[in-house]
Amino acid sequence: MSIVFLDGDFIQKDEAKISPDDRGFLLADGVYEVTPFYNGVPFSLDRHMARLERSLAWMRINYSLDGLEEIHKQLIRANEFQDAPTSYVYVQITRGAAPRTHYFPQEDVEPTVYAFARTWERPSPERWAQGFSAMTVPDRRWSRADIKTICLLPNVLAFQDAIEAGADDAILVRDGVAIEGAHMNFWGVFDGTVVTHPTTSNILPGITREVVLELADQAGIALEERPIQVEELKDADELFFTGTTGEVRPITTLNGAVVGNGSVGSLTQKLSDLFHGKVQEVRSALEGPIA
Ligand code: PDD
Repeated sequence: MSIVFLDGDFIQKDEAKISPDDRGFLLADGVYEVTPFYNGVPFSLDRHMARLERSLAWMRINYSLDGLEEIHKQLIRANEFQDAPTSYVYVQITRGAAPRTHYFPQEDVEPTVYAFARTWERPSPERWAQGFSAMTVPDRRWSRADIKTICLLPNVLAFQDAIEAGADDAILVRDGVAIEGAHMNFWGVFDGTVVTHPTTSNILPGITREVVLELADQAGIALEERPIQVEELKDADELFFTGTTGEVRPITTLNGAVVGNGSVGSLTQKLSDLFHGKVQEVRSALEGPIA
């Protein structure tokens, strides 16, 4: 049985009760974060908390994040994930429970804070080495995709469209630009330069994206942050995604056509190696478990 955190308490998941009046449930009026842990050690927890703070501020949800990092670590301990190679903590903060109105509740309402931990499995090295397929799908999200809100319906529908078409993942396209994936950021390699969309209001500013950009820069890899036109995709040497549960994920088939030479590209491989090296470095630095 898993232990979850709800409004100040660590409880069994089947004891967790959230009001049907909760504005997250009724209106998707809330934000969330997903922070990775490797063998019980958090990766970029401070950056995830900073992004959550921004999401809350934009949504005008009043909630102090004091103590939330410790709650993340406690969830990993309580669920005994200290030895799990890959796990994460999901936290969701909604505007709270109040009679349904399209405007904010008139009375002071406490935000609802719910968090859980779970393990996830990365694809085997053999599976990863084959690369993954992706399909372009229209981006039907609102104009503030940079806020990590729990309103993920357009992402859900895009991902489902891709799966039903036999692809592993979706690439969201808006105004002829390949913006990002349904749950990961999107990258291309063109003539030796690694390219990804700049952090405008149209994309989620991924933490993995930020880390990979820093690592690529330190390694002297040519980088460009600019929109990638859909017409350019057929000329890409490599395509890949980045994200918390995808890490660096190669795309070797796009809309049924082979990408580059059809195998995982050398820069994708290099960035993946650098990313795993960074994870290892963070783990060693924080040696001496959080438990
Ligand atoms: N998804 N783009 C979108 C639309 C996302 O939902 C995510 C994260 C990312 C990658 O961000 P990061 O590197 O910080 O994980 C990009 C999370 C993991 C999710 O919804 O489960």
